[in-house]
Amino acid sequence: MQADIVILAAGQGSRMKSKLPKVLHPLAGKPLVQHVIDQASTIDGAKMHIVVGHGADQVESALANQGAAFYLQSEQLGTGHAVAQAVPGLDVEGVSLILYGDVPLTPAAVLQSMVQIAARGHLALLTVVLDDPTGYGRIERNAVNDVVGIVEQKDADAEQLKITEVNTGILALPTKLMMEWLPKLSSNNAQGEYYLTDLIAMAAEARVAIHTLNPESEYEVQGVNNRRQLAELERWYQLQQANRLMDAGVSLADPTRIDVRGALSTGTDCSFDINLIIEGEVEIGSNVRIGPNCVIKDAKIGDDVEILANSHIDGATVGANAQIGPYARLRPGTELAEKTKVGNFVEIKKATVGVGSKVNHLSYIGDAQLGSDVNVGAGTITCNYDGVNKSLTEIGDNAFIGSNTSLVAPVKVGSGATVGAGSTITKEIGDNELAVARGKQRNIDTWERPTKKV
Ligand code: UD1
Ligand code: CA
Repeated sequence: MQADIVILAAGQGSRMKSKLPKVLHPLAGKPLVQHVIDQASTIDGAKMHIVVGHGADQVESALANQGAAFYLQSEQLGTGHAVAQAVPGLDVEGVSLILYGDVPLTPAAVLQSMVQIAARGHLALLTVVLDDPTGYGRIERNAVNDVVGIVEQKDADAEQLKITEVNTGILALPTKLMMEWLPKLSSNNAQGEYYLTDLIAMAAEARVAIHTLNPESEYEVQGVNNRRQLAELERWYQLQQANRLMDAGVSLADPTRIDVRGALSTGTDCSFDINLIIEGEVEIGSNVRIGPNCVIKDAKIGDDVEILANSHIDGATVGANAQIGPYARLRPGTELAEKTKVGNFVEIKKATVGVGSKVNHLSYIGDAQLGSDVNVGAGTITCNYDGVNKSLTEIGDNAFIGSNTSLVAPVKVGSGATVGAGSTITKEIGDNELAVARGKQRNIDTWERPTKKV
């Protein structure tokens, strides 16, 4: 059965004080509305319909190529009017799930249950009991506790305002019923809007069963109206990530100082110091220790790796037992084999480094292939760019590159070769050869230091 997911995202979000439409503001590195889409996409038979208005072009281009249909609501005449815009794209035989683009953290499992209830011909409504229900639509129940309607804050009388069970805005129902009821909505209310919430009274009248579900946490149904709420939701989300990691066998120096902006998988017995930022897709093995202030993005880290403070890893693979940092920078295309060592102020880009090789201090290795057990001395750089083209540096197993060497690519250093410190290497070095390419030292014994002229 088709599950039409209608995401309302036409509102302005003026309290964000932003040129960026509210639903595109990032939470954990991803637009709010993208969280909604990603959760809803896991529902069987899901098809996305997004109602846009303010900043429609920006929202559409940010969400292009995901198979979602867009509907323009040029005037925001209410949530009922918003849903009506999407009706031409819905499957009359299916079910509809209504979501808000600014409520990012409702779990997929909750949404899936709601769709299943709707598939049985009933209406599913997500409600929550709040200490302070101010501003929300109140859930009205009859003497036997069945839901009979929703009354909005601005339309409620003193008695109704005391109700603490509120509407989250999320509901699911058979599309056929919704299509029948939407045209019957009127804007005869305090806000002069077409309220989607008026469907609830219609359902009750038609004796359609109304099931209510509740979230495990208020945050799962919390919308974002301003940047404070956005930050609050971000912290809650991050705390869930931290708890998940600790439950999976990771020690965190401080669960409030790790941010996972993407997907992180870990083995057991890892320990992460403070201020770790994870972005994109990161896979970390077992017994990995990460020092403070590291940023790791789209990377794969093997077992028993140690990453010391202030290291940045992006688009890299790090083999087991490697040691990285402090202050190392691994850029996209870096592949470090097992037992490698990359030390402080070393930058590596698009390079493979073989088993047991070491680049310990102040080096730049770009567009290079290093064999195993290579030792790269401090201050060595690959001159990989001639201003137009990038060229490759190849270094064989067991080679020893003296400190402050410039390797002018394309160039090859043979296995077991040695390069004298301070060399500028422009020609191939054969296996086991020694290359020294630097000015000869002269000592001038008649030299006199200049003295200051008066
Ligand atoms: C709505 C509900 C209320 C519920 C609350 C939960 C109605 C009438 N009221 O109230 O019962 O407690 O949400 O947060 O549904 N939107 C559009 N087009 C419109 C109007 C709204 O796309 O014409 C979108 C907004 O961008 C937003 C969502 O729908 O994402 C909710 O709109 P909002 O104005 O915040 O609804 P509330 O009045 O707060
Ligand atoms: Ca709202």
